[in-house]
Amino acid sequence: MFFRKKIKDMISIDLTAIDKKVIARKNQAIDADFIECLLQMAPEPESAGSAIVETPIMQHLQMIMEMPDFRHILKKEKRKNDLIENLQTIIFPERLIDELLWMQRFEYVYHHTLVITLLVAVLSLDLFTNRTERRLAMAASLTHDFGITRIPKAILDKPGRLDEQEFQLIREHPVYSFLLLSYYFSDSTNPLAQTAFVHHEDGIGTGYPKGFKQENSIALLIRMCDIYDALKTARPFRPAMTTEQALGILQEETECGKIPRRLFDRLQTLVGV
Ligand SMILES: [Fe+2]
Ligand SMILES: [Fe+2]
Repeated sequence: MFFRKKIKDMISIDLTAIDKKVIARKNQAIDADFIECLLQMAPEPESAGSAIVETPIMQHLQMIMEMPDFRHILKKEKRKNDLIENLQTIIFPERLIDELLWMQRFEYVYHHTLVITLLVAVLSLDLFTNRTERRLAMAASLTHDFGITRIPKAILDKPGRLDEQEFQLIREHPVYSFLLLSYYFSDSTNPLAQTAFVHHEDGIGTGYPKGFKQENSIALLIRMCDIYDALKTARPFRPAMTTEQALGILQEETECGKIPRRLFDRLQTLVGV
């Protein structure tokens, strides 16, 4: 259990779920007692859910598959049918689907989430032989950044460099994702909640929020795809990088042990020219 010790003393914002319930107040200490209270506050778990491919999210995923980078990947790999078959296995409770649809008002975060999900879906076809592991990797890609949308838009869209306080707030988003998912599942040990918490930790313990040495290959895969997409996307503070430049940075991360070699090699084969 992560919260036997506090992650950090407190969180920096009021955290609200999509049912408008405040699940953590600003300056709330995140410790085992708080998690206990959060789970008691959680709604009844939903018994059924819907397939992601039967929601509007599938149309958005298909639009991204038609973009040049993905057309290149899917043509080269001839994997479009496998990819769609893989996506068909994701079933989500309605609350998670609502959260994803709500995320659309944060255009960059929503697009980023879907790009990562597609990259992870293609990569996991070869990286994970087990269907359950593949399904978890894709589902965790869809939910990992739920917490980002609780950070004030003015900070997310800020054109210049972030100040130290704003930067710290951004680095708390895995904790927000964890709390939201723990609430939605009424379970802080749920694999999606746990993966969201560690999706910015790396293989040598220099990530955040805790600086764990990460061994969870699904979280490491999401982290790698996350960096790749971030580098390839133009941001208010820097232009988009080319595929080669982005791969160059990920290669350095691989050489220093932050990314497992087999994950990087697979990505390079997939997106390289
Ligand atoms: Fe993130
Ligand atoms: Fe992300």
